[in-house]
Amino acid sequence: MDKKTKQEDPQEIEIIVNNIPYSLTIGIHPDQVGPSDTLAKTLRETLGLTGTKVGCDQGSCGACTVIMDGLPILSCLTLTIECDGRHITTIEGLQEPKTGKLDPLQQSFIDHTAFQCGFCTPGMIMASRALLDNNPSPKTHEVKEALSGHFCRCISHYHVLDAVLSASKKGG
Ligand code: FES
Ligand code: FES
Repeated sequence: MDKKTKQEDPQEIEIIVNNIPYSLTIGIHPDQVGPSDTLAKTLRETLGLTGTKVGCDQGSCGACTVIMDGLPILSCLTLTIECDGRHITTIEGLQEPKTGKLDPLQQSFIDHTAFQCGFCTPGMIMASRALLDNNPSPKTHEVKEALSGHFCRCISHYHVLDAVLSASKKGG
């Protein structure tokens, strides 16, 4: 295949979001995912998963955090084109799909009133979920460290800390 033909071929990628595979075509047409589109944009505007929030759009606030292959990532700093074959979990993927039952961490945020406006909450919950999946009984300083890049304008941080510790094995 010569260089010209290769450049004209649309590139197909597949991302698995909340256990559902999506085939995406990379290109410049309106129905395609742009080569410079971020994962945050694709999740929200292409797949309609608006639970992922975009605050700063430059890697400073943590609002856009999702889990990719088990680790928390900033979806505003991740290009969709880099996510071929990756497994991504968003806030929409945490509840039990058949019953709609909330993830215990989501319930704990509610029980501890760990939010006010809620804008930062999906990112806080996804980062906390990744922490508990990898470390089910974190110490207080480990929770603080895991959430250190997350900013809440409503000052819910201490309630968040209580919610995460309560949802951990240590908290019962
Ligand atoms: S929107 Fe991604 S870090 Fe702020
Ligand atoms: S609850 Fe409002 S920004 Fe965190």
